[in-house]
Amino acid sequence: MTNFPVINLERLNGEERKATMEKIKDACENWGFFELVNHGIPHDLMDTVERLTKEHYRKCMEERFKELMASKGLEAVQTEVKDMDWESTFHLRHLPESNISEIPDLIDEYRKVMKDFALRIEKLAEQLLDLLCENLGLEKGYLKKAFYGSRGPTFGTKVANYPPCPKPELVKGLRPHTDAGGIILLFQDDKVSGLQLLKDDQWVDVPPMRHSIVVNIGDQLEVITNGKYKSVEHRVIAQTDGTRMSIASFYNPGSDAVIYPAPELLEKEAEDKNQVYPKFVFEDYMKLYAKLKFQAKEPRFEAFKASSLGPIATI
Ligand code: OGA
Ligand code: NI
Repeated sequence: MTNFPVINLERLNGEERKATMEKIKDACENWGFFELVNHGIPHDLMDTVERLTKEHYRKCMEERFKELMASKGLEAVQTEVKDMDWESTFHLRHLPESNISEIPDLIDEYRKVMKDFALRIEKLAEQLLDLLCENLGLEKGYLKKAFYGSRGPTFGTKVANYPPCPKPELVKGLRPHTDAGGIILLFQDDKVSGLQLLKDDQWVDVPPMRHSIVVNIGDQLEVITNGKYKSVEHRVIAQTDGTRMSIASFYNPGSDAVIYPAPELLEKEAEDKNQVYPKFVFEDYMKLYAKLKFQAKEPRFEAFKASSLGPIATI
């Protein structure tokens, strides 16, 4: 099997631009995931984010997590746990407006650093959307505009730690799912592994790599590309030793953005065979996803086909 795709973004600036664009295209079409190096986010900023995230976990989250897991008896389970994940998380929202100042227990420096980090991730996400546009033959800015709605994109960060788990085969760090949103950028632990994606029915590790950013495609890009790019199922296996940090930023459509396949990407054949993805308002999709996250994505798409706002041809 070919190796997990690693993209050196610096190579977009020189002779290797074409080959790099091809590599991104191949990753989008065949993996739904890739890992970026030389992405322009300063390494010392990433180091600070990591240090403060780990300090915050130890100081404010670890004890609470242990108590919670003990109270649920999860350490001693004998059969597979299907309704819980072995993860400790909190969420930050950046757009349409930031809630960082309202999150309890964060020191000022951590708030400030996460704001700076989020802004850089936001810009990187927008740069990636334009690279995807270029590969898809869509005009520059098409995807950003498609996500815009009336108030711009929804952009947030899930800060997670996956503590050591005594029964990783019975309790998943995070159960298999696809991501509902647009494009996801992940800063993951460079030592403790655990993230896996499903490729050709096999679970494949997403290798830890210092200062890299892992990118994956969410359900909305699958819809807009009419399935040319697919959101790929992934999961986290907790380790028996070592806590894995993961900071996942979700660049998603605005809640009232209307999502539908880009007309330029609809092939006549797909239309004839009725293989056209649905059209819906993003927040309606999220309401359904909240109930069905850990189930297959196809019934989610089908549910919106049944209640379609109307045939695509009339857009
Ligand atoms: C998620 C997710 C992976 C990770 O939060 O949707 O897939 O490594 N996270 O934390
Ligand atoms: Ni995910």
